[in-house]
Amino acid sequence: MTRAIVAGLTTGLFPRPAGGKNHDMSVQLNHTIVSCRDQQKSAAFLTGILGLPPATRFGRFLVVQADNGVSLDFAEASGQITAQHYAFLVGEREFDEAFGRIREQDLPYWADPARTQRQAINRRDGGRGLYFEDPDGHLLEIITRPYGSGG
Ligand SMILES: [Fe+2]
Repeated sequence: MTRAIVAGLTTGLFPRPAGGKNHDMSVQLNHTIVSCRDQQKSAAFLTGILGLPPATRFGRFLVVQADNGVSLDFAEASGQITAQHYAFLVGEREFDEAFGRIREQDLPYWADPARTQRQAINRRDGGRGLYFEDPDGHLLEIITRPYGSGG
């Protein structure tokens, strides 16, 4: 089974602070919309790199589902697309596989979000991470440890 999780979006990753809200309802990100020029191309790119199941159609959206239930709903836009940032928490094996696909396709990747350290990965929080771009320039990230988890 693939293990790709939108980083930091499950409540289990970040325990509630003591004295925080006391209620029965949890709050979880459920979906977000990703603007793109060609939703087939963009969704296939993401599922292909991360090893996720093919996207499914929901109305005008092509929906890519991460393993924690969060979906990225690709919607085609005709105007200018503002690049956004989407980070995925992945397992060690999934990192190896995704990194392998990135290299097989000769895609540029970076260790840092400013994209100054090209063809390098980072070791933040005792894990591994890298950044790469999707077909519309959205900055994608894969990490094996959540931010700040390294102590
Ligand atoms: Fe990030």
